[in-house]
Amino acid sequence: MEFRKLSHALGAEVLGLDICKPISDSVFEEVQRAFLRYSVLLFREQHVTREQHIAFSRRFGELDDNDRSPDTDPQYPELTIVTTRPKPDGKPSESRYTGRLWHSDLCHSLTPAMGSLLRCLERPDVGGDTMFANMYMAYDTLSDGMKKLLEGLHGIHTRSRKFDTLSAERAAFLARQRPVAQPAVRVHPETGRKTLYLGEKVKQFAGLTPEESAPLLSFLNKHAVKPEFVYRHQWRKHDIVMWDNRCTMHLALGDFDMNQIRHMERTTIKGTPSGYLYEAA
Ligand code: OGA
Ligand code: MN
Repeated sequence: MEFRKLSHALGAEVLGLDICKPISDSVFEEVQRAFLRYSVLLFREQHVTREQHIAFSRRFGELDDNDRSPDTDPQYPELTIVTTRPKPDGKPSESRYTGRLWHSDLCHSLTPAMGSLLRCLERPDVGGDTMFANMYMAYDTLSDGMKKLLEGLHGIHTRSRKFDTLSAERAAFLARQRPVAQPAVRVHPETGRKTLYLGEKVKQFAGLTPEESAPLLSFLNKHAVKPEFVYRHQWRKHDIVMWDNRCTMHLALGDFDMNQIRHMERTTIKGTPSGYLYEAA
């Protein structure tokens, strides 16, 4: 097994590993170390079944089914499906605009995801890449003054979606979800390094008004995704990309023909508790 860096900022391709074959503990530990070092791992040419995708993901920890989208197959609650494929009744998929704002998975829950493994089953002819940003770098490159200012701040994370594409049931479900306040600066539980933890769905800091929060959020979100902190992944069929949600953000690009099929399936690894339920003042 070998690792080849994908960009200066983050990411490495794992060469010489077939996730369907038995993987010894020592090889698996090497993968885990690489995951902590590179934050994003790419496994190419993984001709796996859904069961094998799930089984490999489980080695990293307990899976989370809390983000189940309405397009998910009830037989596989561990899989979140992100697809442009219309529903059996011909209606558009509700997950077709998933991930179009910079975010970290399950940031709106009290146990944000540790990792995610996204598998590409079908891709459009061109476009539909996913971008990843290194949030250690985003934090480390702030001034000492800004770091101090952020230390006590919490961003308010909601589940609401920007796109008005959801069924009435889904919209009602999302409306019932309480916002969660997450520290703007999080300590990665395994590396001990500080990371910036925000995203484009955060519209406000706890205790500040949206108007007061907006200029700072706008600066931080722009700063965090500077090209030099980003890896852009161009998908191939049979790719699995695994990312560390505790120190990266990601974005699904919508630069493709939405009449073509882009079909992705994701497992989500449960993280450690973070944040608190937010009561608006
Ligand atoms: C996700 C997600 C990005 C993509 O599955 O968590 O944000 O490119 N998807 O589909
Ligand atoms: Mn996501």
